[in-house]
Amino acid sequence: MKHDELFALLRRRGVLWPSAEIYGGAQGLYDYGPLGAALKRRLEEAWSAWFLGLSPDYHRIEPAEILPEAVVRASGHLENFTDPEVTCEACHAAFRADTLLEKVRPEGIDGLSSAQIGEILRAQQLRCPSCGSPELSVPRPFNLMFGLDFGPTGKERAYLQPETAQASYLAFARMWDVGRHRLPLGIAVIGKAYRNEIAPRQVLFRMRAFTQAELQIFFDPESFPVPFDRVRAERLPVLRVGPRSRGEESPEVVSAEELVRTGGLPEFYVYHLAETVRFYRDVLGYPAEAIRLFEKSESERAFYNKIQFDVEVHLESLGGYKELGAVHYRGDYDLGRHSEGSGRDLSVHPTGRPPLRPNVLELTFGVDRNLWALADLHLGKDGERTRWKLPAFLAPVAVGVFPLIEKDHGSFARALAHDLRAAGIPAQYDDASSIGKRYARMDEAGTPFCVTVDGATIADGPEQGTVTLRARDSRAQERVPAAALAARLRPFLVPPLPPGA
Ligand code: GAP
Repeated sequence: MKHDELFALLRRRGVLWPSAEIYGGAQGLYDYGPLGAALKRRLEEAWSAWFLGLSPDYHRIEPAEILPEAVVRASGHLENFTDPEVTCEACHAAFRADTLLEKVRPEGIDGLSSAQIGEILRAQQLRCPSCGSPELSVPRPFNLMFGLDFGPTGKERAYLQPETAQASYLAFARMWDVGRHRLPLGIAVIGKAYRNEIAPRQVLFRMRAFTQAELQIFFDPESFPVPFDRVRAERLPVLRVGPRSRGEESPEVVSAEELVRTGGLPEFYVYHLAETVRFYRDVLGYPAEAIRLFEKSESERAFYNKIQFDVEVHLESLGGYKELGAVHYRGDYDLGRHSEGSGRDLSVHPTGRPPLRPNVLELTFGVDRNLWALADLHLGKDGERTRWKLPAFLAPVAVGVFPLIEKDHGSFARALAHDLRAAGIPAQYDDASSIGKRYARMDEAGTPFCVTVDGATIADGPEQGTVTLRARDSRAQERVPAAALAARLRPFLVPPLPPGA
């Protein structure tokens, strides 16, 4: 589906809409309605089940989302977390330099200095996209963090967290003390990140407040054993650094084993890359041919990374490959900076090993971007009907419960929906309009199952009565005892764990 059509459908169904819509909206801010909020929760649960399922020593915490200034000074965000901004001298509109240049320079501007970017802008004779003036400023670094006055005096500064990762570094010492004193130790956070993006756009793709799910794995750089045999034969779609552009090139598919043996990447890194691909492909159901792992060169990588592959997925609504997550090898940058900044040495002494400063492998996942991808890749026309073929465990409503005739079968169907909810199955009662229209509404909302209560159900009583169970994707129908429904549906509603874990 095209971008505007998809956004209109999501808005109409109450999945999401611009924040402060009645005031004309607030750029880069979106609210989730009932379907969107439920889908987002289930996506977060599926991410946790998979990635925390990789080790019993990976745990999720819930930190505060405000960082004191000392933290972002030490992390480097105060100095480095900037985008080059260009303003129009005539109308004062502001633009990201890479957005201004994206048509003439699709490979982007990562690694270029402000002077070099200014040179390219001049050479291309670009004009202001808002008013057409040729008077564009030289690019200057614009810090993306939202700063706050902290406390009543206004003298203390703090910042809304620009990434959830920092909270895990701050928690490391405490988690080490309360844990089993062994590495690897994983600390996961799912929470909001706030960035004052110069040019928010493409709805959930460049937001000013968005949700990240990030796992920081702290490990001994001398020894990070992983069950590599589990992924050895996994086919990974990679686009390596080298002669390639930022465009629409297809990846080369190579095995995990080859990436280590001839590709020069560490086993621990490739193992996590493979588990990440499995999550996108086997859990979220993204087509294998839509996924590519885009390696970032030294000048393109974030300032803290030693190895970085972005997980990109081809999305029709956004016209190409888009970054939805990444695997970052951050070395000991973070614990080193926070050791210096806090004055507390964040080295550890694992049992049976000399003291060391752990390295960090970060698995980052943009929850909102993936929610959009789930709509782009799974929601669309299927014959006459619009169907959202979400994996069942992600569906906001697992089962629609309908009475064939409200006055005769309504009370049984209402009680059935209630019993299913009490058994932990998200069920929704619906008696409005024809059965066909109720199926259509549920198909569009991604509901994988519907049941219809009819005369035979009532005649046979609550213990023996059967209902018609209809599956969204196959449209197959069968009679199932109402009393057996919860047990029948439950296995479909549990997010998968990594195989062999
Ligand atoms: N801790 C590492 C980090 O924050 P990042 O590449 O800046 O790295 C990680 O962000 C993920 O967060 C991205 O892959 C993307 O999915 C999501 N993300 C980043 N900026 C975003 C924005 N402005 N709006 C929505 N999602 C965003």
